[in-house]
Amino acid sequence: MIIEHPSRADLLQAAQSLKAGKLVAFPTETVYGLGADAENDHAVELVFKKKGRPNDHPLIVHIADMHTAEHFACNIPPFANVLMKQFWPGALTLILQRQPGIANASSGHQSTIGLRIPSHPMALELLGIAKNLGVLGIAAPSANRFGRVSPTQAVHVAEELGEGLLILNGGASHIGIESTIIDCSRGQPILLRPGQLSSESLEQVLHQSIAQELIDETPENSSPKALKAITPKVSGRLLAHYAPQAKVLLLDCQALEQRLSSYMPQPRAFIGVWSASSLVLDSKTFLYQAMPQRAEVCAQVLFSTLRAFDKAGVQEIWIEQPPFAPDWLGVNDRLKRASHAQ
Ligand code: TXA
Ligand code: MG
Repeated sequence: MIIEHPSRADLLQAAQSLKAGKLVAFPTETVYGLGADAENDHAVELVFKKKGRPNDHPLIVHIADMHTAEHFACNIPPFANVLMKQFWPGALTLILQRQPGIANASSGHQSTIGLRIPSHPMALELLGIAKNLGVLGIAAPSANRFGRVSPTQAVHVAEELGEGLLILNGGASHIGIESTIIDCSRGQPILLRPGQLSSESLEQVLHQSIAQELIDETPENSSPKALKAITPKVSGRLLAHYAPQAKVLLLDCQALEQRLSSYMPQPRAFIGVWSASSLVLDSKTFLYQAMPQRAEVCAQVLFSTLRAFDKAGVQEIWIEQPPFAPDWLGVNDRLKRASHAQ
């Protein structure tokens, strides 16, 4: 059930549902989250079930304020405090050492925990009300089925996870891709997942360089045994992730043009084309969408564009490879994973 324009009373009711161990989907500035009381292991189990996600993949715990970080995390290094002060509320998740015994299920029983204060006003209000009811953190992965495209609108959540779920509509997520994840649990900052907030902007504040550990796990080495060897786990790092139903091909400009010009129309073939070059194509065979020229704008519409292609019934989506520039890192990361899914 989607709650349109939730009032404070609606948010109170949603917080009460969380307190009672139920799930609530809510908007954030990055993507929509599927929330549960982070300290209720039973409720957190429901999140894993609903998403179809292996329950040793840890969830991000959303908190209302910086003070609450100390409830969930310990030995917070000074550089993590600097990042919190500068970038929270915002699209930055920090992996920290976990307070022993706290939020076991949310953390996938790892010794670390991922924390974030989102900046979406409705998420902040919900977190504040929930905190007053004794729910100190809301564990929330993106509100999609495991491995699929993340939702950036309330209606996407309803399509993914069913009408029965309580969904707070806070409009379209304005960032559109998931938060940047920095591991702060190993003595130095390490980028695990790129997002809109770039390493460069974090480095400028820290006066320190940020290592990268964007391991390209292939389906072969993502077997449970191989995954155990990779700590900490970040499911968004699986090479095949963020997948629409249609097969995605990521092609550089030349390869795309060549493919288009040599394509022999097949009966009933319908192909989505997402390209920054303006193209005039036969609309019986091709569904063309213009790709925004700016990385930020492209990120905003990335997941909804993939969804729209699926909805239109295309069998393949041919995407023009965006520039390999720092500001495109988050978008390129999602596109690469979407194209590896089939
Ligand atoms: O923008 C976002 O981060 C969104 C919104 C809802 O906040 N959430 C999100 O959650 O993307 P999810 O579960 O789809 O991705 C969270 C990522 C996963 O890849 C998970 O493995 C990683 O964060 N993560 C969470 N806790 C971790 C930990 N303790 N160690 C390493 N990775 C962790
Ligand atoms: Mg996700």
